[in-house]
Amino acid sequence: MSRAADLITFDEATSAEAFTSRFGTPDDATARLLSAVVCHVHELIKEFRPTQEQWRKVLDFLTEVGHASDERRQEWVLFSDLVGASALVEEINSRRPSGATPNTIRGPFFRTDTPERALGSSISLDGAGLPLLVEGRIEDLDGLPITTAEIITWQANAEGYYENQQPDLQPEFNLRGLFRPDQDGKFHYRTVRPAGYGVPGDGPVGRLFAQAGYPLHRPAHLHFVVRAPGFETITTHIYDANDPRLGEDALFGVRPELVHPFEQTVIDGKPASCVSVRFVMVRARPGRSK
Ligand code: BEZ
Ligand code: FE
Repeated sequence: MSRAADLITFDEATSAEAFTSRFGTPDDATARLLSAVVCHVHELIKEFRPTQEQWRKVLDFLTEVGHASDERRQEWVLFSDLVGASALVEEINSRRPSGATPNTIRGPFFRTDTPERALGSSISLDGAGLPLLVEGRIEDLDGLPITTAEIITWQANAEGYYENQQPDLQPEFNLRGLFRPDQDGKFHYRTVRPAGYGVPGDGPVGRLFAQAGYPLHRPAHLHFVVRAPGFETITTHIYDANDPRLGEDALFGVRPELVHPFEQTVIDGKPASCVSVRFVMVRARPGRSK
């Protein structure tokens, strides 16, 4: 018997369908999303009609991005952040009631294994930079303290580099800490003022965007993840209101409610800065990601 009837026609008109007829409609959401990505790629190829060489270069770029990613550095996250995909996913999923702290992208420098530190201690393990005192409170929409929270913070140093970008120059876990608030929902720690920085231009993603003249600057900021049982996790930034380049964020991530003045103060008789923050959490709602 002829097998001709089983052959899937593959041409420009049917290519995406030929793929989906084999792939089907999987139960898994990631597989479904990837299937849609493949169909869009077929459309793009038909629109842009790349040569084999041009397509090979795209594949080489994607390969390089993969090779540049490991447990210290996530080049794919950087790619997603710079093309606005992370911010869009965040925007779609984490719209919150007025008064609640908004989410922003997490970025590629977060580490899940951040060590816990005592309230009041310093996360600057090398002491390099201008001292900064960070104090804050975790509360719900009614202003009640959330004492069960944990606050993870990470930031660039006074030169604009994260510890995992400079494993040979900065101590492991420099400028990172996990804190638990006191019985009033308050926390405080010492650090140094972070500098603004260029997003990493030494990997395949940064190189490609820099070649295209894409602005790669981020104004000075602190990162936070705030978690508490029964509440939506906050992943956010606090921006330094004094940074003259606040309006130039490569990731369009600066929101007015996240900009705070870093005021002048004195610590141990020396000039220092101080910033006071408030994280307002909303109760976890069914069907929303934690
Ligand atoms: C960051 O703020 O750490 C960051 C976010 C996205 C891309 C690069 C850096
Ligand atoms: Fe950052």
